[in-house]
Amino acid sequence: MKFDLRPRSLRRAKITALGTYVPPRLLTNADLEKMVHTNDQWIVERTGIRERHLVDPGVATSDLAVAAARICLAERGIEPSEVEAIIVATVTPDMLFPATACLVQDKLGAKGAWGFDMSAACCAFVYALQVGAKLIESGAHKKVLVIGADVMSSIIDYKDRSTCIIFGDGAGAVLLEPAEEGEVGMIDFLHEIDGSGAASLYMPGGGSLHPPTAETVAKNMHVVHQEGQAVYKFAVRKMSEATEALLARNGIHGSDLDCFIPHQANKRIIVSTAERLGIAPERVIINIDRFGNTTAGTIPLAMQTAREENKLHKGDLVLLASVGAGYTVGTCLLRWEI
Ligand code: UT7
Repeated sequence: MKFDLRPRSLRRAKITALGTYVPPRLLTNADLEKMVHTNDQWIVERTGIRERHLVDPGVATSDLAVAAARICLAERGIEPSEVEAIIVATVTPDMLFPATACLVQDKLGAKGAWGFDMSAACCAFVYALQVGAKLIESGAHKKVLVIGADVMSSIIDYKDRSTCIIFGDGAGAVLLEPAEEGEVGMIDFLHEIDGSGAASLYMPGGGSLHPPTAETVAKNMHVVHQEGQAVYKFAVRKMSEATEALLARNGIHGSDLDCFIPHQANKRIIVSTAERLGIAPERVIINIDRFGNTTAGTIPLAMQTAREENKLHKGDLVLLASVGAGYTVGTCLLRWEI
């Protein structure tokens, strides 16, 4: 066999299919009122959330990821065996290792794929999208599955009212393929991390620093801890700064965008960013009321909402943006080509 050593031509990547999945069981604000000292009015006013979907015991992140991936591949009309790489963005892998991408590959029957997990909390889907796009643009692959999936209920303390009202479980998958002649697809990404914010949103136990022991369990170290105000202030500032910088370096104004699909952490963060960028409210996708914060799942779930609400069409100029634990900041500009 002879190797082809000719330089490969760079080709843009585009999203060619989308699939999403949320487990059927609902946890409403009324349910939470019976579990912690909270009320529907506070939750709706401070976050915009009305209900979230939670898995039943025994259902893991790979299950949600596979369900979303199957819908995505069916939409494109291809077999799992045609997928060449799988990136699973998640902060709640089924287990520390093997990577959830391996479990997804096996359950899907994606015999020809390699893959790995991307750990970047709420920004992991956007980061995985860039890595997947580069695999396409480099010419290395023609079909890359990027999945954002989280079972946040597995790491939430349902006695802590400051976190248990926020999070939900869910997943979304997109297929990346080379753009056709004349199509644009993925345009630009701008990301940032700031580890000085690590202590504002984290899960202290279970890693190499604090391996699980009876003591770490007793000290409640295997659940999400959040300094809500600190994260909120960072998110409001950074979501605007990063998206403004991304738009500016591409010569685009907020008013040029057809659709803004942000991470769904708090409705107030989304509205404030959209106002600052000058994006009309009808072009801003908000579904936090139905799903809460599903971490890596929010952006593909919001893409699906945009389609259901007839707000996303072929050729639309779309902005994605997320801010989360790390701190991490992720943004993406693309043309929707489905
Ligand atoms: O996706 C990952 C990134 N995460 C985020 O972007 C989250 C960013 N942060 C937030 O969205 C908000 O900070 C929260 C929704 C988490 C909290 O909202 P807040 O407006 O910042 O509330 P707060 O923490 O300042 O608390 C205000 C008051 C406090 O009472 P006092 O001290 O004023 O008497 C809290 O104890 O609200 C109280 N409170 C609640 N009351 C009813 C906190 N949680 C609740 C609750 N129900 N669930």
